[in-house]
Amino acid sequence: MTATTLQFLVLTTFIVATFFSVEGKIPESCKKYECPTYNVTEMGKDYEIRSYNSPVWISTSPVQDNSLVAATRKGFSRLFSYVNGYNNEKEVIKMTAPVISEVSNGNSTVVSLYVPLANQKNPPSADGLKVQRWKASYVAVRQFGGFVTDSNFMGEVDALKGSLAGTKWASKTHNGFIVAQYNAPFELFNRVNEIWFLY
Ligand SMILES: *[C@@H]1O[C@H](CO)[C@@H](O)[C@H](O)[C@H]1NC(C)=O
Ligand SMILES: *[C@@H]1O[C@H](CO)[C@@H](O)[C@H](O)[C@H]1NC(C)=O
Repeated sequence: MTATTLQFLVLTTFIVATFFSVEGKIPESCKKYECPTYNVTEMGKDYEIRSYNSPVWISTSPVQDNSLVAATRKGFSRLFSYVNGYNNEKEVIKMTAPVISEVSNGNSTVVSLYVPLANQKNPPSADGLKVQRWKASYVAVRQFGGFVTDSNFMGEVDALKGSLAGTKWASKTHNGFIVAQYNAPFELFNRVNEIWFLY
């Protein structure tokens, strides 16, 4: 598949959605693409706590858009060209998963793609993108299937909040929330998405 075809597909909006129960599984996409590794440190009802060991991300500047879906599409399009060599070193790097959208206030979204281990020491630089190095972090995770839409993700955020109520994670502070997506838009089945609260 050419980059243009994939980009076209990425930019196409799909209305078909399939829903699966996907709780507690490592997403299928992580067999095909490199994903950040983690350990599950706690399994709760409808959530899990993971520890990530300092993953590295390539991130857009905040995209101003009331639509999370539109902001993610815009940001991902830039990140997709980045991995395909549109960076200052003209270096092609491996596609990874997931794409994460960090929402910190109503309509500002930072979109990031995981940087493969092989490139983490020295990721290519690119105008308008920056490298984010997380400290070792805990993440509270809720998985859901189907397509992320502007009308469904807040329900998932609230459900995660609800699942954490009464646990020690409810009183710890975290910044906004993250929507993690593991599949390309043209993959209709077995889609895995996650809401993350990052601690
Ligand atoms: C998961 O735990 C193992 C064993 O304690 C450790 O070696 C590894 O670094 C951990 N991985 C992550 C991503 O934290
Ligand atoms: C969204 O952005 C507009 C214009 O930048 C701003 O006026 C508005 O307050 C923002 N809304 C939220 C919820 O942050």
